[in-house]
Amino acid sequence: MSHTENLESRLISIRRYLHQYPELSREEFETTKAIKLWLEEAGIELRESKLSTGVFADINGRKPGPVIAIRADIDALPIEEQSGVSFSSKIKGKMHACGHDFHTAALVGAAYLLSDAREELTGTIRLLFQPAEELGGGAELVLGDGQLEGVQAIIGLHNKPDLPVGTIGLKEGPLMAAVDRFYVKIRGKGSHAALPHSGNDPITATAHIITSLQTIVSRSISSLESAVVSVTRISGGETWNVIPEDVIVEGTIRTIDKAIRSEVKEKFYSIVTHTATAFSQDVTIEWYPGPPALSNHKRITDLVEKTAKNLGLNVIVPEPSMAGEDFSLYLDQVPGTFAFFGTSGNEDWHHPAFTIDESALIKAAYFLTQSARDLLDLLHFDN
Ligand code: NI
Repeated sequence: MSHTENLESRLISIRRYLHQYPELSREEFETTKAIKLWLEEAGIELRESKLSTGVFADINGRKPGPVIAIRADIDALPIEEQSGVSFSSKIKGKMHACGHDFHTAALVGAAYLLSDAREELTGTIRLLFQPAEELGGGAELVLGDGQLEGVQAIIGLHNKPDLPVGTIGLKEGPLMAAVDRFYVKIRGKGSHAALPHSGNDPITATAHIITSLQTIVSRSISSLESAVVSVTRISGGETWNVIPEDVIVEGTIRTIDKAIRSEVKEKFYSIVTHTATAFSQDVTIEWYPGPPALSNHKRITDLVEKTAKNLGLNVIVPEPSMAGEDFSLYLDQVPGTFAFFGTSGNEDWHHPAFTIDESALIKAAYFLTQSARDLLDLLHFDN
């Protein structure tokens, strides 16, 4: 039996299996095993890899030619599922709340379709089932493992709950934000709450720092540019009558433009260090740069737009998202495009009641398949 027979129901059961057994970043061991099995069942050859999670494979056409990569991310999130679907997560506190189960199943579907069409292909389609997108670092692992070597173009997609099934968001240029993360420790001098003058209160100092940080976007960055500064964790003190020694502040900064990214960072350091000094605090800043902004290549986006229209999809130009996506690291190496795929969901990404309308799944599989084929043809004529 061909693997593309009853493809839609097959992909839905693959997705539901993944959904019931979600695994966090860098722990996708069972997911990895399952993907390998699904590919090997269809006679698809796996590529060697030194990574403990993630699956990589090549579908070689009848004749050698260009190499095109399709990427799906495979990891889940530490969220307790509340979607109420019959195939809800069986793992406590873990959930596919970003729909990476959908991406994985769609790429397995594309793998089956492309494998069936081997004889008609000139070139190679490389499948990248990438681990650890959520935690970050997954794309770097894949690059370090040499899986992008020889690849001339890359495509990928993310489900988009607020777009209806049958609609696809395609946009050349910036689509998703650069991600920076900070961890700040403000250290003063503890004291009796009744005698604040005998110490250096880090809580009051931290309050000023956090309030001032909100002026970066409102007072330093042009209102026509995009930037977000979010303080998401503050921790200090144990009780009501003691001023503590120190306070921890964590959060994230999101930007689209490279120059704005460094400007916000500079301003952040300046506000934190100078305000701390003004309040006689010692301060340490730990800065964790995440993936750069994701920017789609024009020519490939144009081509994929034609493919999507030929498949009867409704193409729109989406609003950029200030969420991050490490697909941007691949786009720094090779041209490509990342699409937003409509899934008529109830809630947005990372929500405990996040859902996907599964009728989008087969459409996504065909979209990835046909985009890769059209891209192969385009590059073949270029060579
Ligand atoms: Ni995601």
